[in-house]
Order: sequence, then structure tokens, then C-alpha cells
Amino acid sequence: MYTQSMDLPQGQPGELRAVPADAASADAEARFDERVAADRKVEPQDWMPDAYRRTLVRQISQHAHSEVVGMLPEGNWVTRAPSLERKAILLAKIQDEGGHGLYLYAAAETLGTSRDQMIAALHSGKAKYSSIFNYPTLTWADMGAIGWLVDGAAIMNQIPLCRCSYGPYARAMIRICKEESFHQRQGFDIMLALCRGTPEQKAMAQDALDRWWWPVVMMFGPSDADSIHSAHTMKWGIKRISNDELRQKFIDATVPQAELLGLTIPDPDLKWNAERGHYDHGPIDWDEFWRTVNGNGPCNRERLAARVRAHEKGEWVREAALAHAAKARARAAKAAA
Ligand SMILES: [Fe+2]
Ligand SMILES: [Fe+2]
Repeated sequence: MYTQSMDLPQGQPGELRAVPADAASADAEARFDERVAADRKVEPQDWMPDAYRRTLVRQISQHAHSEVVGMLPEGNWVTRAPSLERKAILLAKIQDEGGHGLYLYAAAETLGTSRDQMIAALHSGKAKYSSIFNYPTLTWADMGAIGWLVDGAAIMNQIPLCRCSYGPYARAMIRICKEESFHQRQGFDIMLALCRGTPEQKAMAQDALDRWWWPVVMMFGPSDADSIHSAHTMKWGIKRISNDELRQKFIDATVPQAELLGLTIPDPDLKWNAERGHYDHGPIDWDEFWRTVNGNGPCNRERLAARVRAHEKGEWVREAALAHAAKARARAAKAAA
């Protein structure tokens, strides 16, 4: 996955501790502004404004959490995939998402926040993750809809992040985007197989589209007018394209794909606007969006509980890995002595 507009408010600023800048002079700030304006990357060792660091920690950690929580809805279907091939593909996709989480936690750690802190914020409910993963996966067609639409929306959101001003985040996104592109195609392929199948299979694909369409449209985050972080993240070169523009790009790209599948997008107001050169769409239920973001979507509690349980069950693995690393260090030190 998966970002939605990864700039949602969470907790108090500074709760995820960022390393304080030690040379916050006007001179350093001017050099920083110049670097960003010239489209040169900011690297971990460079001076950066505290607010830039905090914003990146919030955005990258929300993104990492989304990748990891995003494994759960699809995990629901690994044992029930309709063929060995589909199961292998789904497993590979879910594993990719875990990898995306790792790259992103590592990128956020370069800003001086530990993975333990980020995970604690997720588990306590302070940190956000993409609202889309709080919806249930009721049928196999949901695996198609998630790949096609959720990963498709993620690509729209993430391609501009490959040019993000913060080097480690931008570099992580390049590889992630390549993998998301495979995810989107495998989802579309599932939908295509269902739409070419029996009337029951096609109905299953339509039902999945009906349930996922609006939550996916919401993934791009609040309208530009209500997006509290957008102006800053644009100025700093973290965000390049606004939430509404990305949403429009996604809708414009997806409508012809739905037509090819022979499916109907569940929006009676959706129509081509020749004057604008874009599709117009109906109103978005922002109450549902905020309800889900703030912990009261259909599966929020279940998802968080599953994450906490998995983390607790993995305690012995982390302990063993640390003990192994300590022994290896001790052996290396002895050999060097
Ligand atoms: Fe993905
Ligand atoms: Fe991903």
C-alpha cells in the first residue's frame, strides 16, 4: 500500500520525539530553504527545521503503519485463495507490504525516532494509519478490489513521493512504487477473471467495487480546503500534488478500467465534464471518513488488537535476535583483541 493523505493530525506535536536541531540559525534555515527550492535532497545529517522533521516522522510512520496494518485484510484470504497460483501471488503481495513497512520504519528512524516509539504510538492508538484498512474483506473479490483500487490509489499518491525532498523517504518510495504497480495489476487480473466468469462471479466483483469505491476515494484525504498540513508540506517539497488533484487523477484513470471490466462505479453523479477535461463525482461522506480515522470504522478495534497480538507473540523472536547479535558482537570483539 498505502498512503492516504499521510498528513492527518495525531496526538500532540513532539510526542514522537524528534532530535532537536542544534544549529537553528537563520543562516542554516536559509540554506535549507535554498536546497529545497533547488530540488536537492535533504539527508539525515543535514540541518532541518524541527517542524519539517516532525512532519516527516508523522507522515513516514503513518505510512509504515499503513503498510503493516494493510497486511491484515488480505491475510484473511490466504487460506481461501481459489488456486495455488492465486495463493502464491497473494502471499508474495502481502510479504511485499511487510517489506514496505520495514523500509519506511528505517527511513523514519534516520530522523531520530526509534521503531519502538513508533510502534508504541500505533499500539496505543495515538498514531494513525490509512482508514482504508478498517473495512472488512468479505469475499475473494475483495482481494481484486484491494489490488486494483487500493494499490491503484496508493500508486497515485506515492509516485510524487519519489521526488520528496527527504532523501531516505524518496529512495524508499522508488522501490515501493515498482512493487505497488505489480499489486495493482494482480488486483485488476483477479477482477478481470471474475468479470469474465459466471454471472455470480461478476456479481461478486460488482459487490466488491460497490463496497470499496467510496472508502478508496476517501483515501486521498480531506479536501484541500480542510487539509491542515498541506500548505507546509507543499512548501517543503514533501507533498507535490494536492489531495483533490490526486483524487481526480485516480478517478480519471479508473473509470475506463471499470468500463473495460463491465462494472458500474457506484456514483450516480459520476460523469465526464468536457469543459474541465475530467470526471465530475458525487459528494464524499466526510463524516464516515473522520469516524473511521478516529477509531470508529467497521474494523478499527479488530485491526489494532491483531497488530498488538502479533507484536506480543513476536517478543521471543526479537529477544533471540538481540541475544544472537550480542553474541556475534562479543565473538567479533574477542577475535579482534
Ligand atoms: Fe501494495
Ligand atoms: Fe505497499
